[in-house]
Amino acid sequence: LASTEFDLTKVADGQQVTLKWRGKPLFVRNRTPAEIKRAVADDHAALKDPQTDAERVKPGKAQWLVLVGSCTHLGCVPTFGGGDYGGWFCPCHGSHYDTSGRIRKGPAPKNLAVPEYEFLSDTKVKIG
Ligand code: FES
Repeated sequence: LASTEFDLTKVADGQQVTLKWRGKPLFVRNRTPAEIKRAVADDHAALKDPQTDAERVKPGKAQWLVLVGSCTHLGCVPTFGGGDYGGWFCPCHGSHYDTSGRIRKGPAPKNLAVPEYEFLSDTKVKIG
């Protein structure tokens, strides 16, 4: 299946860009220091799908979160910045994701998926 390259300079601080990848939305989020701090602080909260923030990003690149933008409940596209945890909110049945894309509340069973990707340089990633 096709991989895709993406230029990270297109994502402003604190924003996300949504791409289309293998027929699904893909979120590339440029997290603020406060958002990263909030995610790390909850690493040992009661998580439905336990994962630390560090397990969901590349070493030394914690500001970049790359996620498949499909709610793990029934596949709606969660809304950026919404919900009780400041990550995403899925309007279909009310799933709340945190700033690491982890499921925190609502019917979704799993965290937003992290696709396979790698950094080609400081400003370029290859996804897939
Ligand atoms: Fe997202 Fe149901 S599809 S909560």
